[in-house]
Amino acid sequence: MKAKVLQLLRTCEDHFVSGEHISNQLSISRTMVWKYIDALRKEGYVIKAVSNKGYHLVEEMDVVNEHAIRSRLEVDAIFQNIIYEDTVTSTQQVAYKLLGEGAPHGTLIVANEQTSGRGRLGREWYSPANTGIWMSLIMRPNIEMQQTPQLTLVAAVALARAIKEATNYDVQIKWPNDLIFNGKKIAGILTEMQSDPDRVKSVIIGIGINVNQQTFPESIANIASSLSLETRETFHRVAIIEHFLREFQWLYHTYLEKGFSFIKPLWEARAISIGEEILAKTANGELKGVAEGISDEGVLLLKDSEGNSHRIYSADIHL
Ligand code: BTN
Repeated sequence: MKAKVLQLLRTCEDHFVSGEHISNQLSISRTMVWKYIDALRKEGYVIKAVSNKGYHLVEEMDVVNEHAIRSRLEVDAIFQNIIYEDTVTSTQQVAYKLLGEGAPHGTLIVANEQTSGRGRLGREWYSPANTGIWMSLIMRPNIEMQQTPQLTLVAAVALARAIKEATNYDVQIKWPNDLIFNGKKIAGILTEMQSDPDRVKSVIIGIGINVNQQTFPESIANIASSLSLETRETFHRVAIIEHFLREFQWLYHTYLEKGFSFIKPLWEARAISIGEEILAKTANGELKGVAEGISDEGVLLLKDSEGNSHRIYSADIHL
């Protein structure tokens, strides 16, 4: 209900909305309207009240919680099961636990802080409180196992588009899962699949976005950054989440309907280092060559100095 009150206030952004209107729309008493307004104010929303006029949402703080997200969902959003926690070890870990309890397709887990955030290849993911977006999605796609890495690329395109819409800044994608701004990593995606021997049961897509951090640990300060550090602006995390969920939902459904060939050009248009010399560190050793692009399956194609083509399924890319 708090989400619905917030939604009504937001739809009337430049004028007042009367308590009576809210109470009629939501079929609640005026006293309940006042209680929800009070609760929203306590969370940090600045809501002006003028007698005979009603309420006006003056300032939206960077509040991330379940109803802040819910109030921004589209009516047909698949992300109806939203779990928000202040502090977790890792939203991936919470997702695994919820999967065990039968969590539905489209479950979204968001945390304000992670104490053991994880990245690809067992790396740590720096996830301090109040500054970034740490979230995991539980999806149950009907796809072949070898298609799962494509979902990382779908998520990367959705994320780049969402950041553009919410901040007006362009970010680039580094294969397979890094989002790069001014040469530094500002977001990453970690896709983990759960399967039977012959079919995908579920996929957990973990997304970390460095939004408003002002500092980074020394060990990663030269490679990682935040949107805020790069632009000297601050951003509303929930607005980025809103855009991401919208973008991801339609790209995901279009991908399932039309295949990866629909996603490929969108990914390539934002890709960094295509046509350039790269070093791919794979589990089987290092390969140097020119990144030619990605295949129709989303595999990275690399041509070495002798003209041999290689297909890279999993690697760390150095530019
Ligand atoms: C990477 O670039 O290596 C992937 C980083 C993924 C980080 C996100 S933050 C939310 C989710 N929970 C985690 O512990 N990791 C992912």
